[in-house]
Amino acid sequence: MWPYPRILAHRGGGTLAPENTFAGLRCGMEYGFRAIEFDVMLARDGVPVVMHDPALGRTVRGSGSVFEHDAADLARMDAGSWFGAGYVGEPVPLFGEFAAWCKEHGVWMNIEIKPAPGYELETGAVVAREAAMLFADEIAAGEVQRLPLLSSFSDVALAAARSNAPTLPRACLISALDGDWERRARALEAVAIHTNHLHLTPVLAQAVKAQGFGLFCYTVNDPARAAELLSWGVDAFCTDRIDLIGPECV
Ligand code: G3P
Ligand code: MG
Repeated sequence: MWPYPRILAHRGGGTLAPENTFAGLRCGMEYGFRAIEFDVMLARDGVPVVMHDPALGRTVRGSGSVFEHDAADLARMDAGSWFGAGYVGEPVPLFGEFAAWCKEHGVWMNIEIKPAPGYELETGAVVAREAAMLFADEIAAGEVQRLPLLSSFSDVALAAARSNAPTLPRACLISALDGDWERRARALEAVAIHTNHLHLTPVLAQAVKAQGFGLFCYTVNDPARAAELLSWGVDAFCTDRIDLIGPECV
């Protein structure tokens, strides 16, 4: 049984606000979402920040890489103006502050561990430790449905997350399911498979479910496609089109 919300706003507010920012999160909430996916990587000083690209330039004004800047510097950079004049100065969130705010406001989190190349182990360890500290009470109380779900394309990051916070659930991000997905998921003691819906088939969906894993799809922006995926047994998905797909049902 999937104990988590079924429809998540991708990167906070989908494509209706600057991704991976508090503005995005607020936008998702305005559309009724209380569950989001977002991306986390480490700054130069090892502090996790909410960002998707290791390179600055696309969403964060500046140049170079995330690992050439400390978190405090990134937090002063502009992650909003690329999206629109109304978002100038919107900062890069620190993961700790962002996650605490979500928890406080009852927003469930799928935390995608998105390591910059070469920082897989450290990123998985740090993000998992911080998340476990934030949710220490829920872990102790066994409130599984409130715990964040840690996902990653990096098996190294997920293995580090397991070592550092074994009680936090993990999900393997695998773009297209191949013959190895089950071995990887079992090796990491993952509870779910997160996959690109474009490569999913009913047979694959059934196989994942038959082996007892949760099944999550990214990034589903068409209501008819969402309904189809759910009919295949998909448990949950994230969407960029929070204006077309509501948080409760399709
Ligand atoms: O976590 C699902 C999805 O966000 C993975 O792709 O590139 O949007 O982080 P990306
Ligand atoms: Mg992501």
